[in-house]
Amino acid sequence: MSHPSSGDLSETVPTADLDAVRALVAQARRPVVLTGAGMSAESGIPTFRDTQTGLWERYSPEQLATEDAFLADPDLVWSWYRWRTRMVRARRPNPGHDAVAHWQRAVPGLEVVTQNVDDLHERAGARVLAHLHGSLFEHRCAECGAPADVDPGAPADAEAAGSEADLEAMLREAPPTCPACGTGRIRPGVVWFGEMLPQEPWERTYEALERCDLALVVGTSGLVQPAASLPFVALGAGAAVVEVNPVETELSGAVTHALRGSAGAVLPALVAGV
Ligand SMILES: NC(=O)c1ccc[n+]([C@@H]2O[C@H](COP(=O)([O-])OP(=O)(O)OC[C@H]3O[C@@H](n4cnc5c(N)ncnc54)[C@H](O)[C@@H]3O)[C@@H](O)[C@H]2O)c1
Ligand SMILES: [Zn+2]
Repeated sequence: MSHPSSGDLSETVPTADLDAVRALVAQARRPVVLTGAGMSAESGIPTFRDTQTGLWERYSPEQLATEDAFLADPDLVWSWYRWRTRMVRARRPNPGHDAVAHWQRAVPGLEVVTQNVDDLHERAGARVLAHLHGSLFEHRCAECGAPADVDPGAPADAEAAGSEADLEAMLREAPPTCPACGTGRIRPGVVWFGEMLPQEPWERTYEALERCDLALVVGTSGLVQPAASLPFVALGAGAAVVEVNPVETELSGAVTHALRGSAGAVLPALVAGV
């Protein structure tokens, strides 16, 4: 794991804040790390809002990440998720993911909760308590709900992954038919706009936050509900809440400390001593 020197952060994070949060990190026995799309940005996976390019350039989330979109054009939505999955498989965890995994090895009570549908926390070696918005690697029937195994296909090479050409090559692939009911189409196990969050992961998360002694909120805009309400559960439980984000967010005014910087730079600096 690489640890950036403190010089890397001095422009964005005041040393006093960093020291204060390092002290919280050193003491925490039941910390919770809540991550959003910004956690994976430095791995080369675009966030929803930071870019008008790449992932969301051709189609808006509303055009693709809804059940209506899937019903209207299953092939388009299916192919687009296959393309995203291929891209994620071609990307690697960044030093921020490594830092979280390292911290969890040192403090086994640490829980990781993510809104991300990628598997980069796991591939860095962390155990994830909850994927609040599901996973690109789980599938189920859109009609009967039966879980389905889907071969993720050959990984794209790093350069082609996520490219326009790769999307063109994948477009118009039809989703498989459900082997359980024989009629339904298989859909990705992600939470689409307008859908409920899976209940058990949500409950596990809530319980972990109610008993946590520190919550680190990394790379989330704090706009997508109900996930955006979770830091307030930790605050309500009396825990310190630290935000790690290069920019101010909806949450910034409410947290104990807001560290302005990227996940890949700030997290290694926070956990270097644990
Ligand atoms: N990797 C993924 O799985 C992925 C990618 C795109 C979107 N999503 C989905 O997007 C939804 C939107 O919510 P969200 O809040 O997670 O994402 P978001 O796109 O709304 O917000 C991303 C946040 O990350 C911050 N950010 C950007 N680069 C960062 C970096 N290097 N380090 C730290 N922070 C950084 C941004 O300032 C922003 O606040 C979620 O439902 C999630 O499932 C997931
Ligand atoms: Zn079915």
